[in-house]
This record gives sequence, C-alpha cells and structure tokens, in this order.
Amino acid sequence: MEIIYLSRRSIEGLGMGMKAVLAAVDEGFRLKGEGRAEMPAKIGIHPAPDAFIHAMPAYIGGAESAGLKWVSGYPSNIEKGLPYITGLLILNDPRTGIPIAVMDCAWITAMRTGASVGIAAKYLARPDSRVAGVLGCGVQARTSLRALAEALPGLKTVRCCDLFPEAVERYIADLKPLLPHLDFIPCGSPGEMMEGVDVAVSAIPIVREPQPPLDAGMLSPGGLAVSLDYDAAWTGDAMAECDKFVSDDIAQLLRTREHGVHFAHIPQAIYADLGELASGQKPGRENPSERIFCMNMGIAVDDMMTARALYALAAEKGAGVQLEL
Ligand SMILES: NC(=O)c1ccc[n+]([C@@H]2O[C@H](COP(=O)([O-])OP(=O)(O)OC[C@H]3O[C@@H](n4cnc5c(N)ncnc54)[C@H](O)[C@@H]3O)[C@@H](O)[C@H]2O)c1
Repeated sequence: MEIIYLSRRSIEGLGMGMKAVLAAVDEGFRLKGEGRAEMPAKIGIHPAPDAFIHAMPAYIGGAESAGLKWVSGYPSNIEKGLPYITGLLILNDPRTGIPIAVMDCAWITAMRTGASVGIAAKYLARPDSRVAGVLGCGVQARTSLRALAEALPGLKTVRCCDLFPEAVERYIADLKPLLPHLDFIPCGSPGEMMEGVDVAVSAIPIVREPQPPLDAGMLSPGGLAVSLDYDAAWTGDAMAECDKFVSDDIAQLLRTREHGVHFAHIPQAIYADLGELASGQKPGRENPSERIFCMNMGIAVDDMMTARALYALAAEKGAGVQLEL
C-alpha cells in the first residue's frame, strides 16, 4: 500500500487558487449544516506558554473526506524566525480507513482560514461592502484578504494595522501585486484602522490574558467583524453591541468556553453557525444596518474539504512523492 506525501512546496506547485478553496469550504459548511459531518471536539496539548498542538479530526459524508490535522501554534517561534503555525494532515479513504495521503498543513490552514472569512462575508457582509480592515498583518490576514476580494467584488480599500509597521509594509508589498485594484491604507492604530470599515478581520496572536484593542463603537452600523484570534482583539462590549453573533461551530465555541480560558465575554445568544447559513436553515444578513460578529475558530471540516480537493488535484497531476505505508 502506498500513500502520497505532499510537501508545502508540492502543494503550492499545484496552483490551487482561493476560488477553489472557497467552493470546497462552502460545500463543507453546507454538508455540516445538513448534519452530514462528524467532527469531535479538537483536543490539544500545551508544551509551552500560549502554545498549542491540536488534533483535529473530521469525516464529511457527501464529500467522502476523512482525516486528521495535527497542528501547532507557537507564538515564541516568531522571535526565532520560525513560522507560528506548522503541522501535518493525514487523509484516509473513508471506505477502508486506509491512509491515502500525508501533507503539510500550513498552506491548507492559511487558505481554509482565509476562505472561512470569505464565506462569512458571503452570508453576513453587505454585498456592496467597499472597505475592509485587517488587524494583524500576518499569514491568515493575507489569505483572508484574498478571500474577501473574491467574495466582495465591490471591495476597493483595505485599511491595515499591525503592532509592527514593517509587517504592514510587507503585507502591502505582497498583496498589492495580487490584488492591484485595491487601495491599501496603512493605519497607525486599531481605532484608525476601523474608520469607515465594512468588514473587519482580526488575526493577532491568541493569548491567555488578552487586552483587546477593538472596543464597542468602533464597528460601523452595517459592518461585519470576523475574529480569527478568539477573544484576543475584541472586547465583550464590542461583541455585545452586534445584532447577530455567529460562529463557524457553536459546539466547539461552547466547549472551548467551558475550559475556562477563552470566550468568557461572548454574548449569551448565539444566532447561528456558518453551517446553518450555508445549508439555508437560517438567513444570514437581513438588512443593511445590522452589525454582525462572526467568531471563526477554524474547524476540521474546512481542513478535510481543502485537503480532499488538493489530493484529487495531486492525483490528476501526478504530484507528490509515493511512500510505502
Ligand atoms: N481561526 C482560525 O481558523 C485560525 C487559523 C490559523 C490561525 N489562527 C489564528 O490567527 C492568528 C494569526 O495567525 P497568523 O498565522 O496569521 O500569525 P502571524 O504571526 O503570521 O501574524 C500575526 C500578526 O499579528 C501581529 N501582531 C501581534 N500582536 C499584535 C497586536 N497586539 N496588535 C496588532 N498586531 C499584532 C504580528 O506582528 C503579526 O504580523 C493567531 O491568533 C492564530 O492562532 C486562526
């Protein structure tokens, strides 16, 4: 028996674009909303302060994707010049359980995380949104903007803020060539970044004792806020002032809160998760003045949908290295 090993470089060489990842992730949310996904709680170990290594399994019936992601996030890697997020993903044949592929998961994580922002925008942003704002100009904020540009054709301006002005400069230098129709505005503070923003994305490090810089009154009426960093960036008051609070997975959100480290200040009323919106069980945005908050923690369904699409493309192109099991 053989498996395919896909390194990060061979995954990048496949040339899968954000449009394809958005389609895979949207389909995953739809199937999950229809009750066809099995996705137990992520479990994890924490070998260093503020660090995690998580195990994230999922099976999605209808897409016939099954597997596990083993992903780490180490904030201290940044000072060492190492990536914050690294890991591997195993894909199994759901008919036999036999592993069929092992692949790097940094590309998958970044692309499916960005795609989750695009899907949140599809259901929850005003379709005429013109201004995006990003806090934390790192890896996830890059793919998030690529996804927003696909989901919101009217997007014209991006307001960017980071703790380090060099990070903003690199962000603009990397993304302007990919998205030349967008105007990038570097902002000196989170408050300045939020001015006139229709869709705000936060992607700063998740820490145990956050001091969130984004407060009530900063998100304009009609705006959408998407958090990729748990409760690191937004205060409880900022979340509470929103008319709808949505998540990519309500069960995971509540389980994480039960652990007592994160989400102590989220609103009691959770309107829906993205699966319920994608499967048409509940409407997303219902009027142009609603403020909506979407907490996307990242779910294994997104990973397995993206990995399955990559595996199919790799098989078609004969990419990767065959290894004996
Ligand atoms: N929800 C998901 O699906 C998902 C998936 C992957 C990562 N994440 C989370 O997204 C966040 C970003 O991950 P990444 O891979 O992009 O990391 P990254 O290191 O590439 O980027 C983080 C950026 O935030 C900046 N930053 C740090 N503290 C800041 C502050 N207080 N104010 C403004 N900017 C600040 C850093 O300078 C850096 O540019 C992390 O919290 C990570 O755990 C979420």
